[in-house]
Amino acid sequence: MKRSTLILLKTLTWVACLGPLGLLIYGAVTNTLGPDPTANIELTTGYNTLLLLILSLAVTPLRKLVPRLSWLIKFRRLLGLFAFFYGTLHMLTYVALYAGFDVHAMLADIEKRRFITMGVAGWLLLLPLAATSTTWAIRKLGGKNWNRLHRMVYVAAVCGVIHYWWQVKPGVLSPLRLTLVLGVLLLSRPVLAWYERRRVGVVKG
Ligand code: HEM
Repeated sequence: MKRSTLILLKTLTWVACLGPLGLLIYGAVTNTLGPDPTANIELTTGYNTLLLLILSLAVTPLRKLVPRLSWLIKFRRLLGLFAFFYGTLHMLTYVALYAGFDVHAMLADIEKRRFITMGVAGWLLLLPLAATSTTWAIRKLGGKNWNRLHRMVYVAAVCGVIHYWWQVKPGVLSPLRLTLVLGVLLLSRPVLAWYERRRVGVVKG
């Protein structure tokens, strides 16, 4: 891929990833965040955390399926870091606007409301992944350890999906789409590994 095309695509990715935040800021400034601005901010940041996490997880299977798309790897870290960025905004919205920085209320919530417990687990899992996403950290940990640690991203995404299901009212199916996409991505790992083993076996044989 040409350098200029890559720069253009990266710029577009930044714009797309910052879009939801821009819309929230615009809504806050113009007072158009709806009847419950706090819920709007919480739902928008939560949804985009999960969406970006799932998009970052789609990069590897897509590259394996369509080798011409191998350049997508250059976007995986960016998508993952934006997922963590929205996850942190989401968590801070809860801390500031829902719990009013009341530590006791937050601890009680974590203990009593299972969807909050699951959300916190998801965010805590993302934290070491974001902290080790620098080239320096990859070199320091070594490729094998880094890959092992970063497999936790699947667990974080599963926590996010469960958290999503647990916070919607019974009968509401809005989490279904992202759940199905995550299910396909999780399944694609063993399927693609099996396919690769078979291909290598055929070439060797
Ligand atoms: C400290 C961690 C977290 C806390 C305290 C938290 C809390 C919340 C709260 C209070 C809501 C809104 C409930 C409502 O207004 O009805 C929510 C929604 C949501 N959260 Fe979290 N969350 C956390 C982490 C996460 C993480 C890590 C993810 C994704 C991986 C995530 C994804 C979502 C999604 C998808 C929604 C629903 C969005 C929608 O309905 O469109 N959350 N969360």
